[in-house]
Amino acid sequence: MREYGNRRVIVTGGAGFLGAHLCRRLLADGCEVICVDNFYTGTRGNVRHLLENPMFEVLRHDVTFPLYVEADEIYNLACPASPVHYQYDPVQTTKTSVHGAINMLGLAKRVKAKILQASTSEVYGNPSVNPQSEVYWGNVNPIGPRSCYDEGKRCAETLFFDYHHQNGLRIKVVRIFNTYGPGMHPNDGRVVSTFIVQALRGEDITIFGDGSQTRSFCYVDDLIDGLQRMMASADDLVGPVNMGSTYEFSMAELAEKVIAMTGSRSGIVHRPLPEDDPVQRRPDLTLARERLGWEPTVSLDTGLEHTIAYFRELLGA
Ligand SMILES: NC(=O)c1ccc[n+]([C@@H]2O[C@H](COP(=O)([O-])OP(=O)(O)OC[C@H]3O[C@@H](n4cnc5c(N)ncnc54)[C@H](O)[C@@H]3O)[C@@H](O)[C@H]2O)c1
Repeated sequence: MREYGNRRVIVTGGAGFLGAHLCRRLLADGCEVICVDNFYTGTRGNVRHLLENPMFEVLRHDVTFPLYVEADEIYNLACPASPVHYQYDPVQTTKTSVHGAINMLGLAKRVKAKILQASTSEVYGNPSVNPQSEVYWGNVNPIGPRSCYDEGKRCAETLFFDYHHQNGLRIKVVRIFNTYGPGMHPNDGRVVSTFIVQALRGEDITIFGDGSQTRSFCYVDDLIDGLQRMMASADDLVGPVNMGSTYEFSMAELAEKVIAMTGSRSGIVHRPLPEDDPVQRRPDLTLARERLGWEPTVSLDTGLEHTIAYFRELLGA
């Protein structure tokens, strides 16, 4: 029997970077939250501050195995998200996306829960159109080093839509673009965390290629707000919906900004571009704006300030 009258929400991958922020926000909204994680890249430390809350529970569980828990809503975030982590065990990465989706969709079907999938801009691969809107089918290499992640996420989307069409499941698919903020892993090889850590340690900042490739970065608070709006949206909005920032700039510009904001003496060195690294990525946010009234509000400077402060404390720098 339910102990509380509030919504019970499962967050898979709840001990990861985005998951921990989401758990915190859901608890603040009065939800009962079950964080399901196998601690592959996430840590107990990420959710330690939530453990005293009686509405919060952590379950050590691998989503590639079935789970039987009552819930009203499921956010499916479990999956290593940075190339160093998802390429370490590519078979497990695909299994996490595909078997994980099957298991969580099966659970949602049994308990009649609404379920949201954390998909990714990587489903667009190396896009031939810019910006990418949700109708673009993508340009993905099925057998490259990024394929375990990209194709796993694409297959998960397929499963979500087939469960929706076949079983009438209430689904929500969000394609998340690069997101950053406090709580990121210091060694995950993602560009914002890597540049900040290198700058704070006074090491040279490593840019892959000539630094002209562009990215857009969304601050974590904005993204979590978007995920919650999507979950709360009308049942006819199933997605996929892009979420990210449209403010696009080059890796060289980011490196210079981080050096200036940290007051670092770091230099900049260039390394060869990794295989299949997309040259350009930027979301078309029309759908999110029109249907959810959502767009990022936190400026890059403000977001970087918070993130740099977090890493300063973490590294004691
Ligand atoms: N952060 C981004 O920029 C970004 C961009 C696009 C998509 N996403 C998606 O958002 C989700 C969360 O990303 P993140 O940045 O927080 O990554 P993260 O690596 O910090 O978090 C992923 C979490 O999933 C857990 N996990 C991995 N495999 C699991 C398994 N088999 N069973 C249970 N738990 C498992 C990890 O331990 C970790 O806590 C991922 O699905 C990712 O693909 C993130």
